[in-house]
Amino acid sequence: MADEQAPMPAASALAGEPAGGTLVRRHRLSTRLWHWVNVVTVAVMLMSGLMIFNAHPRLYWGEFGANPDHAWLEIASHQGAGELRIGALKLATTGLFGGQGAAQARAFPGWMTIPSTYSLADARLWHLAFAWVLAFGLLGYLLWSLANGHIRRDLHITRKEWRLAHLWRDVKAHAALRFPTGAAALRYNVLQKLAYCGVLFGLLPLLILTGLTMSPALNAGLPFLLELFGGRQSARSLHFIAALGLVVFFLVHIAMVVLAGPFNEVRSMITGRFRVPPEPKEPADA
Ligand code: HEM
Repeated sequence: MADEQAPMPAASALAGEPAGGTLVRRHRLSTRLWHWVNVVTVAVMLMSGLMIFNAHPRLYWGEFGANPDHAWLEIASHQGAGELRIGALKLATTGLFGGQGAAQARAFPGWMTIPSTYSLADARLWHLAFAWVLAFGLLGYLLWSLANGHIRRDLHITRKEWRLAHLWRDVKAHAALRFPTGAAALRYNVLQKLAYCGVLFGLLPLLILTGLTMSPALNAGLPFLLELFGGRQSARSLHFIAALGLVVFFLVHIAMVVLAGPFNEVRSMITGRFRVPPEPKEPADA
């Protein structure tokens, strides 16, 4: 986030924008650029990844994993009827996962995948092409954010913020949908910091490293990755779980953007300009 707060011209009366309050510059160009390139990249990677999963819709733990092994997760199709099995739990998922009628017996349906018709080869091309953008985009963004102070100023979680009382106060404020006003609205709160750091330093690196672990060409050069993740099948399972984590983050992220005021929030990520919600007025003394 930019620290200068240059006043901007008065607001238009668009829905979702706080009345009054100053228009300031909030997100840096580097954050905005990385964010939107990353949104497209993650969407393509998720959708092509689901098509790759369709080629073998089962997940295993361990080194090898093959058809006779016991899969801990499986999306099966029985004459057009879909079933998701996780361990001993079986869920009927016809119409969503595993079965859209006998003609389309596929783990993930066409509207969720790239390409929409079955093609493992094309899905791999999309997935591997965008993997470069994801990996080098993240590396570049993290190095740039370290250099320009974004990590230290905006994402770093202070000792005070780690305190349980502080965390609890933020959880309660979120649950009551109380959003910060004034200068506090320009800073990420601790739950935002935890979510964004979880994505930037946790889920995305885990996706990239487990992806590298599944590449046979890299196994020779970086054999420690196979040891780190406990084998290729475990890496594939962790890759899938991290992708699921990203989907959960995305759903909560979008819900929070909508609740906090989508116009003001999304504009700040596109143009950088954010209207600071004014502090509520103190009640006049009797
Ligand atoms: C259409 C979809 C999306 C919209 C509308 C959106 C919107 C936003 C907005 C408005 C912010 C700023 C929040 C604030 O200032 O309080 C933000 C920050 C962020 N978003 Fe998204 N987002 C989307 C998708 C995603 C996805 C798919 C990811 C990750 C995989 C993501 C990761 C992040 C991260 C890490 C930040 C913090 C960036 C930083 O300050 O370094 N977003 N997003």
